[in-house]
Amino acid sequence: MDTLTQHPTIVAITGATGSILGFRLVKALLELGEPTGLIISGHSYQVILEEMKLTLPPGSEQKESILNYLNLTDLKYKNLLQCYSNKQLGAPPASGTYLTRGMVIIPCSMATLGKMASGISDNLVTRAADVTIKEARKLIVVPRESPFNQIHLENMLRLNQAGALMIPPVLSFYQEAFKSLDGQINYTIGKILDHLGLPHHGLFPRWGT
Ligand SMILES: Cc1cc2nc3c(=O)[nH]c(=O)nc-3n(C[C@H](O)[C@H](O)[C@H](O)COP(=O)(O)O)c2cc1C
Repeated sequence: MDTLTQHPTIVAITGATGSILGFRLVKALLELGEPTGLIISGHSYQVILEEMKLTLPPGSEQKESILNYLNLTDLKYKNLLQCYSNKQLGAPPASGTYLTRGMVIIPCSMATLGKMASGISDNLVTRAADVTIKEARKLIVVPRESPFNQIHLENMLRLNQAGALMIPPVLSFYQEAFKSLDGQINYTIGKILDHLGLPHHGLFPRWGT
């Protein structure tokens, strides 16, 4: 076991469509036994309700509802997951002294993307992202908009130049396993896990193996 495995991955769900992607990443991390910190932006609650028919209580109170939704009822998952409110600017991920494996913003709205690209750290998601960049840790952004305008593209380039990785939820067709919505979600989640240094996820078959 390398030392990184003891440090949590911070997952942020923002108010772009595709909240299920964030939940599926949390599920995959917990099933791999990885400690996970979750931040859900205020604007996400409406999207989560619309798309997943899930009403969540705020911040730290939402752990139970999320684990039930993900069908992860074992006590070990409760110990691995930590939920933070986006308003909690004093929470551990807001400080560089709190060690993490990295951070994933999934899905990432263009509003949060723009703030991150400009260094505006006015909530826990954007502050934790800023910290992740300054500490030269892995920052993975799953931008979700279509089409992207010039401002979106420039913001992505700026973040990429600062060390962030863009993994948009693009469609993939070259393996049989991808040919369902579930397969497409697994493809994106698997890609993210690969880049977090967790390639043993088994979410898709690897080409040539
Ligand atoms: C149902 C719904 C779907 C949305 N989808 C997107 C989207 O795909 N991409 C995006 O950038 N914004 C989307 N938005 C707008 C964002 O929620 C809005 O810009 C918000 O300010 C984002 O704030 P946050 O990044 O703090 O969550 C959507 C809003 C709603 C209500």
